[in-house]
Amino acid sequence: MRLRDAEERDLDAILAIHNRAIRESTALWTDDEVPRADREEWFARQAEDGSPILVAEVDGDVAGYASYAQWRSKHGYRFSVEDSIYLADGHRGRGYGRVLLTELIDRATAAGHHVMLADIEAGNVASIGLHESLGFVRSGLLPQIGFKFGRWLDLAILTRTLA
Ligand SMILES: CC(C)(COP(=O)(O)OP(=O)(O)OC[C@H]1O[C@@H](n2cnc3c(N)ncnc32)[C@H](O)[C@@H]1OP(=O)(O)O)[C@@H](O)C(=O)NCCC(=O)NCCS
Repeated sequence: MRLRDAEERDLDAILAIHNRAIRESTALWTDDEVPRADREEWFARQAEDGSPILVAEVDGDVAGYASYAQWRSKHGYRFSVEDSIYLADGHRGRGYGRVLLTELIDRATAAGHHVMLADIEAGNVASIGLHESLGFVRSGLLPQIGFKFGRWLDLAILTRTLA
């Protein structure tokens, strides 16, 4: 697996992973798939903010990607970033998530951020396990705050102090 910064040519693969997560999982709490323009805007916004998008490349294909962005827009939150990490089906459980998240933590620390947090659907044991394995702790649980696929969803909030 090769870890690198995302380029515009990766956006079709990233879009496919993103929309599949919308369609088939409770990782993203919406039913509305997005057009390529949505990912193009996100790509440009990340570049403008100086926030990374990383990809895990396997045999020339994008196996997954990860990014972080300021958690909330108000100025006082400028040292807190939320991570986002997605592996394509068939590439999970091989350690790629850990490599991506470790690099995100290093980048956020180097950029002077203080806390990284993750909002995770409380039943997502893989994501919670990944984050806990890298030092995130459970900082809150919002019961029944979301609704998808005909059921209520709980949101687990995990945080990690960076520096
Ligand atoms: C969550 C996700 C990013 C994890 O990435 P991954 O590459 O599969 O995870 P890794 O192989 O790097 O595993 C790292 C650690 O995470 C934990 N973990 C991973 N999968 C797990 C699972 N199914 N159950 C419990 N813990 C798990 C383990 O602690 C693991 O360490 P170990 O292998 O030494 O036990 C990936 O499964 C994924 O993309 N899922 C679908 C999208 C998603 O839910 N994204 C997160 C939204 S909040």
